[in-house]
Amino acid sequence: MKKKMEKALNKQVNAELYSSYLYLAMESYFQSISLSGCAKWMRGQVQEEMFHGMKIYDYVHERGGRVQFQAIAKPETQWESPLAAFEHILAHEEKVTELINDLIDVALEVRDHAAKAFLDWFIVEQVEEEATVGEIVDRLRLIGNDSSGLFLLDSELGKRVFTLPVK
Ligand code: FEO
Repeated sequence: MKKKMEKALNKQVNAELYSSYLYLAMESYFQSISLSGCAKWMRGQVQEEMFHGMKIYDYVHERGGRVQFQAIAKPETQWESPLAAFEHILAHEEKVTELINDLIDVALEVRDHAAKAFLDWFIVEQVEEEATVGEIVDRLRLIGNDSSGLFLLDSELGKRVFTLPVK
């Protein structure tokens, strides 16, 4: 694998682990305001992002590269409302989509079609993530200050069971 590709994939391992860390901070926030369903949903996000990071980690090794360990940035830890937290997730996922697009640009630039094929999985995953979070944001906006609506959504989100995607 070309060094430029390896370096770019390494950066993404760090970005995915940061996402996991950010979502863990959100899980803790939801615990602190007793929205245990939202907290459980966030735990699924934490595991999913860790899975993404490990998927790239494994791929770097599979291609004969080496994973470089960098510091994971400190995430935000407080949000002014559940809506603000979910809006943050949506904005964050949109940024991650851009990072994946940049990675594909690198793969095409260095003619690494294997890496391009590997990264296509993430493109599909990002569409799904943005759609899921976008829907929750829309519902929270509709709910507004209606606490019974919020508790209903919280209980629905609490039903999330994370299962590892099939390779
Ligand atoms: Fe790893 Fe939420 O994208």
